[in-house]
Amino acid sequence: MSMENSIGIGLLGAGTVGGALVRRLVGESDAIALKTGLTFDVRKIGVSRLHAERDFAVTEGLLTDDPFEVVNDPTVDLVVEVMGGKDPAGDLILAALEAGKPVVSANKELIAARGPELIAAAERAGVPFLFEAAVGGGIPIIRPLSETLAGETLDRVIGIVNGTTNYILTEMEAGATYLTALEQATDLGYAEPDPTADVSGADAAAKAAILASLAFGTWVDPSNVYTEGIEELTAVDMSFAAELGYVVKLVAVCERKDAGVNARVHPAMVPKDHPLASIRGATNAVFIEGAAIDSLLFSGPGAGGDPTATAVLGDVIDAARETLAGAQVAPRIRFSPGEIVPFTDIPTRWYVRLQVDDQPGVLAKIAASFGDEEVSIRSVWQEGVDQEAALIVVTHQAPESAQRAALASITAIPEVIEVASVIRVLGASK
Ligand SMILES: NC(=O)c1ccc[n+]([C@@H]2O[C@H](COP(=O)([O-])OP(=O)(O)OC[C@H]3O[C@@H](n4cnc5c(N)ncnc54)[C@H](OP(=O)(O)O)[C@@H]3O)[C@@H](O)[C@H]2O)c1
Repeated sequence: MSMENSIGIGLLGAGTVGGALVRRLVGESDAIALKTGLTFDVRKIGVSRLHAERDFAVTEGLLTDDPFEVVNDPTVDLVVEVMGGKDPAGDLILAALEAGKPVVSANKELIAARGPELIAAAERAGVPFLFEAAVGGGIPIIRPLSETLAGETLDRVIGIVNGTTNYILTEMEAGATYLTALEQATDLGYAEPDPTADVSGADAAAKAAILASLAFGTWVDPSNVYTEGIEELTAVDMSFAAELGYVVKLVAVCERKDAGVNARVHPAMVPKDHPLASIRGATNAVFIEGAAIDSLLFSGPGAGGDPTATAVLGDVIDAARETLAGAQVAPRIRFSPGEIVPFTDIPTRWYVRLQVDDQPGVLAKIAASFGDEEVSIRSVWQEGVDQEAALIVVTHQAPESAQRAALASITAIPEVIEVASVIRVLGASK
């Protein structure tokens, strides 16, 4: 194919993902052309540091520090947004779509915040807006959810969608403290210098919002995603979890109930025989449960320049194919209004670790607090040291609000020295 027929690519950003994408588009162009019949030509790249060293060949005029120049360049047919952040990425994407240019983005933060607006703009323009890399990095999950499984009634999607926290938890399982494990994650480049978005669960919450929206067809705003991070987890709970037959994971749970949908992110005790229990280190996974399909597990590298660039490149090829076909592109997903069920209404199971005065009758009082809220107890474990005892209670499923009410009355029992931790236990679907 001659250069005239090649598709002009404009990149917004050339960092970890963008740099890897440029190297692939240049270095593997022959292989891509052989396999797809398409040739791509990177025509403009927007960066913030014009003179920084790059790990790809920079020709005269390729780079600009004005990202709108990329979008407005008449030789750019397709825009790839890999700069991150909500601003100016959102306005750049809108400008590209309004100019009739297909857009590929890897930006979970922006899509979680402004997804419906961007998807509607693409629909108006009749061009593709694809974001396979926004959740799960190199794992194909957006396309399976929005296309392959479009005809399936999905009940629940559970993801391990943050590699940094899964790495930290895997290390803690092997005995490391939270802080040592976090330090290791930073040294290995998994964690950002400021790891707040990862360890607080905010990154996973943006992904949960996107997964729930695509799985159930009702848009879930990240502000509706109950979010708890891993900062409070201790090695003690990790080892109790192991003794009880669980591993602790930071999970994004998206569920469809009769009353509506719910998405949440929190640490959870995952039974050792559940497929998600075996997802270790920085690996990500998404476990999908549906009426006809039963269950599916997708797993692989959730981040990293090369794997993520593979997902972006797949979108670029897909968008180019659709655009070359010439017709207006049909929307891939439609959102309809629906109820968001508050987390407090969702049935959960709890593991509660208490520090108590080892006196007769304390267990009865704790059991009564649960009983008053109609939370039944599944198992109790006690380990005494001198006058104090560690008491572990695992409950059956009851509404989150009932579990919280029981805990409030337990906290008021004089013999209860401390509620050391509360971790939810992953329950069966429905
Ligand atoms: N890294 C991953 O493993 C991964 C995985 C999945 C999804 N993602 C998503 O992919 C996106 C990019 O991530 P990344 O890790 O590649 O980020 P990165 O390494 O920080 O790269 C960001 C790039 O955007 C440029 N940039 C930032 N702000 C800009 C502005 N205002 N104007 C012009 N250029 C600007 C930067 O320019 P300079 O190079 O000059 O600084 C850099 O080239 C994010 O949305 C991220 O969430 C990343």
